Parts: sequence; C-alpha cells; structure tokens
Amino acid sequence: MTQEQWTAVDRYFTDLLVPSDPALDTALQTSAAAGLPPYNVSPNQGKLLLLLAQIQGARSILEIGTLGGYSTIWLARALPSDGRLITLEADPKHAEVARANIAHAGLSKLVDLRLGQALSTLPQIAAENQGPFDLIFIDADKPNNPEYFAWALKLSRRGSLIIADNVVRNGAVIDSASTDPSVQGVRRFNELLASEPRVNATAIQTVGSKGYDGFAIAIVI
Ligand code: SAH
Ligand code: DHB
Ligand code: MG
Repeated sequence: MTQEQWTAVDRYFTDLLVPSDPALDTALQTSAAAGLPPYNVSPNQGKLLLLLAQIQGARSILEIGTLGGYSTIWLARALPSDGRLITLEADPKHAEVARANIAHAGLSKLVDLRLGQALSTLPQIAAENQGPFDLIFIDADKPNNPEYFAWALKLSRRGSLIIADNVVRNGAVIDSASTDPSVQGVRRFNELLASEPRVNATAIQTVGSKGYDGFAIAIVI
C-alpha cells in the first residue's frame, strides 16, 4: 500500500461523504497562503471530530492547538447555538489566521481563541472555572501531551471525551528508544491513558492523505 492509494481512497470518501464547504475550503487556502504548516486534520478526520462531538452531545469543547482553525470550525459546528469552544494557540500568526477563518465561518460568537503557551493559558482557564468541558481535543506540541492530559482531566467531568491526534507518528510510537521528544511525549501520554483509573481509552491507527498516524480516545469514568 502506498501514500498515493491512501490519498486516493481519502479523496473517494471525502468526495462521497464530506461535501466541499466554502468556509472550510477558505480556512485551508488562507492557512496555506500564510505559510502555516499543513498539520490540520484531513476533511474526513474533521468530520469524524464533528460526529464524535455530536454523539457526545457536546455543549462545551476545549481544543489545544488551533493552527488556522480548521479543526476548530469542524468542532464548533457540532455545538448548539449557545455552546462554546475555547481553543489554545501559541503562535500569533496562526492565531491571526484562525481568527479570520473562524469569523468567516460565522463562528466567532461560539469560539474563544486564547493566544499563549497552552501551559500558561490552561491554568487561567481553570482559574476562571471555564470547565468542565464535554470534549477536549489535544493537538498541539506533542512533548507536552502528558501535561495536556493532566489538564484535560482537571477540566473534565464524568462522561467527558478526551481525543488526541497523532499518537502513531508513522509507527515511531513503538520505538521506546526514540530520541524524538514528540515520540516520547506521545508514548508517555499513551502510558498515562493506560494507568489512569479515571479514564477508559483506546487508540486507532489511521492512513490517509496525511500519511500513517492515529487517534487516541478516552472517556472519563
Ligand atoms: N488542530 C489543528 C492543527 C494543530 S497543529 C487542526 O487540525 O486544524 C498544532 C498547533 O499547536 C500549531 O498551530 C502550533 O503553533 C500549536 N502549538 C504548538 N505548541 C503550542 C503550545 N505550547 N501552546 C499552544 N499551542 C501550541
Ligand atoms: C504534526 C502535528 C500535527 O498536529 C499533525 O496533525 C501532523 C503533524 C507535526 O508536528 O509534525
Ligand atoms: Mg494533529
């Protein structure tokens, strides 16, 4: 199996099941034009996030890692009109692109973008009593995944869903000797999922237009 096939099959499913959408298309175009890295979830993954948020009946969502707001738009669209989504981004340029994309999607009223290192903005969000969130999506710098998981637990309730992107990293996740801090961050995160009695979790490998990676998903029990 090749990347070409994975991309072709992603295109097949996306053409069938994920109708092209002006606000989402614009978000990808403006992100690329501004030179943002292509780390956004793929369209069919974005729709998976929307479906998971809908299944969850999420009214409050926390996202760690906004980039250009692509996954933010998918997640915010699952919210009721009085729902809310807080998204955390450290890079001012990414935040600026995301703000414009979220506004263009008509979601500014639902979305609160906090600029800053997530390890600084998360304690503020806790101090403001913004939690608990119904769904938390962890998709920022992977070395900090263990810390983000601890914050996700603090900002959740029984029944909250915690989702993490990029837990396979082209298979590198099984290399315990890896010197890549992202791999080690993801490995430590996966071990915390396993040992934390407050969650019930699994992880799934994915292939597609973004290569070979995966999602972890946990419910707070
Ligand atoms: N969720 C996005 C992709 C996020 S890419 C989507 O699917 O569309 C990861 C993002 O996390 C980048 O924009 C990066 O700038 C941001 N990031 C990296 N380190 C961070 C930190 N310490 N705090 C907050 N955001 C961070
Ligand atoms: C990277 C980060 C992501 O969130 C992603 O989905 C893909 C790649 C990265 O840092 O390489
Ligand atoms: Mg990601």
